[in-house]
Amino acid sequence: MPKRIYITTPIYYVNDKPHIGHAYTTTVCDVYARFMRFAGWDVFFLTGTDEHGMRIEKVATGRAMSPQQLADENAVAFQQLSPLLGFTNDDFIRTTEPRHVRQVQTFVQKLVDTQTVYLGEFEGWYDEGQEEYIPQTKARELDYRSPVNNLPLVRAKEHNFYFRLSAFQGRLESLFEKNPDFVRPEARRNEVLGRLREGLQDVPMSRTNFTWGVPMPHDPGHVIYVWIDALMNYITALGLGEPDSDAYRQRSKYWPATYHIIGKEILWFHAVIWPAVLMALDLPLPKCVYAHSFWIREGQKMSKSLGNFIDLTTIKQYVDRYGLDAWRYYMATHGPLGATDADFRADHFHTVYNTDLANTLGNCASRTAAMINKYFDGFVPAEAGPNESALADEEGPDDLHRPIADHDWPAITKEAVSSSTAAMEKIDLARSIGCAIGLVRKVDAFINLTEPYKLAKDESKRGELGAILYQCLEAVRIASLLLWAVMPGKMSELWSALGLSIEPDAGRLAELAEWGGLEPGCRVRKIALFPRVDTLSVIEGAA
Ligand code: MSP
Repeated sequence: MPKRIYITTPIYYVNDKPHIGHAYTTTVCDVYARFMRFAGWDVFFLTGTDEHGMRIEKVATGRAMSPQQLADENAVAFQQLSPLLGFTNDDFIRTTEPRHVRQVQTFVQKLVDTQTVYLGEFEGWYDEGQEEYIPQTKARELDYRSPVNNLPLVRAKEHNFYFRLSAFQGRLESLFEKNPDFVRPEARRNEVLGRLREGLQDVPMSRTNFTWGVPMPHDPGHVIYVWIDALMNYITALGLGEPDSDAYRQRSKYWPATYHIIGKEILWFHAVIWPAVLMALDLPLPKCVYAHSFWIREGQKMSKSLGNFIDLTTIKQYVDRYGLDAWRYYMATHGPLGATDADFRADHFHTVYNTDLANTLGNCASRTAAMINKYFDGFVPAEAGPNESALADEEGPDDLHRPIADHDWPAITKEAVSSSTAAMEKIDLARSIGCAIGLVRKVDAFINLTEPYKLAKDESKRGELGAILYQCLEAVRIASLLLWAVMPGKMSELWSALGLSIEPDAGRLAELAEWGGLEPGCRVRKIALFPRVDTLSVIEGAA
């Protein structure tokens, strides 16, 4: 029985078009989901769109269209990200879908029934940008302006339904204490914990000042607060609110989530409000909420007012110039997964492409395949084995043999596979991918050290030459298995050049990654994976 994984992205607001921020979070989830499926896990990967709320209503009104029309138009743009950027999400949920609306109402009714939701009056500072009330002390710190759009906070008074968040103070504190990994990275956890310890207030969970939302059950004058509606997507997509449904039968097994991957600005909702709602519904809690930092651009925050967002048009230009796999590689290895923001710089992208992909991975695969073509007519030579014919000749290891004997490739590759897998399990994408690229660098160094092109001149060293080239290609093959999740297109190309038919969804990574999988005698074609891009020409709006 394979172990299960449920990974989610935030659901994105449809008042906006997709940009690098959205593409990034989904790429992180996709790389993880692909890798873990390959490693044999039963993975469910969800993304979608958040389609209710006042700001969507406002944008739609401004564009003289209905909120549903706006949602339909922009949801498509988000759905198109998957084929464009190679995402393998198992479902795409939209919060205006009946399956979601029905279940949200069921869950909210349950909260009313258990009195974790009650009717009351509230007055406070309201941030229209984030659609949230800001506590008095925080509002003063912010100079009564929205941290999202810098517009003045609005003094608002509402007769509303409230969620009894304050009742969960103790349970939330103990959740954080007992599960140090509930919120990652640690810096983010400490922030949440600090704010949590200031004490929790009940939160309004319905609105009456607009209508674009899920109606409150039995009280359609109120719509359910967009954040409560949105957070519930993680369980409505699995059918948890409809135990008689097919969705429930097929998908309820994936709950609780392994990872909710989000950006740092929406951590409070996910780390505090969401677990409290789940506790109130008597449902198990997610294992980890991972809040990454932000992409900034050429040293500046990306914002609408600066007009410097990396939008889909710019992303497509990068994909056209460097290839989709290179785009995914850069996202995964240099993105803001940790606690600090990452700067997207065109020159850095260019350097990383040439250094890691063209000069290291591409070059190593191509020179190894070229030598096999040149010296062995394209047939993979046998690994005579450093301890067999190649090294155990009568003369004993000389200077040339030494480096070969020093390289215990089965052990080196085994270590790379286990470190890469362990890092991926923890969502440390850069480290996981780094283990594979590190392996390729070792192969390169090995070629430089053993100089097979010199050995090729000496007929008596043919066994040794064959062994070296076998080892190089076999190590590259194993690295390619670890790199498939991030660069599925190029790694499949590599496999086909090696005559391998590998199905990552069959979940056989560990088995395939065992040393010796490459069969001597099979045919290797020449390989050109990542052509060098010599000039850093400016991509529209990239500088
Ligand atoms: N609809 C809410 C989320 C509800 S989840 C139950 C929302 N949507 S959003 O469209 O604004 O998307 C926010 C997410 O986009 C962030 O959490 C992050 O995943 C991603 N990013 C937006 N800007 C970003 C950057 N500049 N850098 C990296 N990711 C960022 O909030």
